[in-house]
Amino acid sequence: MVVFTVTRRETVPFEGQKPGTSGLRKKVTVFKQPNYLHNFVQSTFNALPTDKVKGATLVVSGDGRYFSKDAVQIIIKMAAANGVRRVWVGQNSLLSTPAVSAVIRERVGADGSKATGAFILTASHNPGGPHEDFGIKYNMENGGPAPEAITDKIYANTKTLKEYFIAENLPDIDISVLSVSTFSGPEGPFDVDVFDSTTDYVKLMKSIFDFGSIQKLLSCPKFTFCYDALHGVAGIYAKHIFVEELGANESSLLNCTPKEDFGGGHPDPNLTYAKELVARMGLGKSSSQFEPPEFGAAADGDADRNMVLGKRFFVTPSDSVAIIAANAVEAIPYFASGLKGVARSMPTSAALDVVAKNLGLKFFEVPTGWKFFGNLMDAGLCSICGEESFGTGSDHIREKDGIWAVLAWLSILAFKNKDKLNEDKLVTVEDIVRKHWATYGRHYYTRYDYENVDAGAAKELMAHLVNLQSSLSEVNRIIKEIRSDVSDVVQADEFEYKDPVDGSVSKHQGIRYLFVDGSRLVFRLSGTGSEGATIRVYIEQYENDATKTGRDSQEALGPLVEVAIKLSKMKEFTGRSAPTVIT
Ligand code: G6P
Ligand code: ZN
Repeated sequence: MVVFTVTRRETVPFEGQKPGTSGLRKKVTVFKQPNYLHNFVQSTFNALPTDKVKGATLVVSGDGRYFSKDAVQIIIKMAAANGVRRVWVGQNSLLSTPAVSAVIRERVGADGSKATGAFILTASHNPGGPHEDFGIKYNMENGGPAPEAITDKIYANTKTLKEYFIAENLPDIDISVLSVSTFSGPEGPFDVDVFDSTTDYVKLMKSIFDFGSIQKLLSCPKFTFCYDALHGVAGIYAKHIFVEELGANESSLLNCTPKEDFGGGHPDPNLTYAKELVARMGLGKSSSQFEPPEFGAAADGDADRNMVLGKRFFVTPSDSVAIIAANAVEAIPYFASGLKGVARSMPTSAALDVVAKNLGLKFFEVPTGWKFFGNLMDAGLCSICGEESFGTGSDHIREKDGIWAVLAWLSILAFKNKDKLNEDKLVTVEDIVRKHWATYGRHYYTRYDYENVDAGAAKELMAHLVNLQSSLSEVNRIIKEIRSDVSDVVQADEFEYKDPVDGSVSKHQGIRYLFVDGSRLVFRLSGTGSEGATIRVYIEQYENDATKTGRDSQEALGPLVEVAIKLSKMKEFTGRSAPTVIT
């Protein structure tokens, strides 16, 4: 057996190693500085309770982006030196973020061991490659991201760190081969288990959904399907689940081989970045010349986000979670005994609220960030939740789950079509959405993103919007000058949330303008960018007259969009006359 020793290395702190809830995200060039990753990893070990390090089992893997392979070897050597008992690595260091959550919660090692945490190597939907982003985040024993108490501690540690520990003479592990390697160090044995990246996750999905009914739908020649992994880690799960388990044609998969640089693209599943899928689904120009698939979906780099499309039809993420919640009990075996409650993030449209009200479900509105859902789920208060930012999920894990969302939609389609597979026409994605609007009303919704804006200018714009809130009559006077056909603002504030489980209060979670007719304008600064600031403007209007729910969304929202841009003085503050991305 190979014996390793522990080396203590002196180091000095780096500035700016403050992890958000989605971890620490920086350019690869920043991460490649000597000791940069080491400092962060040691600061994390130092922030955890001793029993979650010494003798513990940890998962290390991610979306396979550039620098992951180096990072995995460094983390393994530091785990060994810090007294960790074993490290579980997905083959080729690939595990989607939801799969990591599933592995922490579900996987049991041959000797009965369970993981108590994970380092996830991802910058989610940010581009990858030598000049792009890398990221690392720590997830806890419940499978969810580390809470602020831990991330604050990690950050504090990064500012004072003087030393780290590393087993420099531990050989590099061949992570391309399934194997268990056993070593011996000063604190006893240390194992590295390279395991199959998809098995545990697929097993969990099979326990949630009725794969038989989805398989029948996929085998119906009238039902055509397309899945785009945008060269992220979702590809390996898509192959295993959609092709091997459910019998979809391999040609249904687009960009399903993970690449370190995501093929040079931006692995974010939205109408701007998922170009190939959008064109295939007939949402581009001149789409009348061909027959797009009935159903399309995409994922981001680490496969926790999803976009759902029908033939020539976009499903907003806000509608998606509402529709899943409305149909879950009937269509998804995991929810057969009912939903504990549902939740959405504040900027997400109120489509879910209407479903919750109609079905008599507990409902929660939380700040942006998946961790708020995790608390509710741990307390048994929430079964299904979602965000406008293309995140949808349930209490089967503690991360949002891109493949789960697709299986949820396939389950609903399978359920609605169970007696129709031999008929001329299937119930389509568009039929389901339009029927939902007819029943519950429609929340017209759009988001304008202004990316990489000067950080100072973005702050000023936000301060201007907060200042305006001191006089509603003044706000309404300005609005009437911009558009006389927009209703009055009845309430304006900064969203604040008191967690019903732990009582913690989160302030400054976005600026809200709420209108008499139920419309909303919300302004927020993104918490996930790695350069400059990104201003997000969320625009929403409710329509419950069933004869008016079929309008073009951008046209219906035109007046409110104009108000949002002029009220915020977007052009004056940022110099931008158009957003970078519209979803
Ligand atoms: C990550 C989190 C989500 C959150 C999103 C917000 O994806 O996991 O829970 O909704 O970031 O991103 P933003 O850029 O709007 O802060
Ligand atoms: Zn992601």
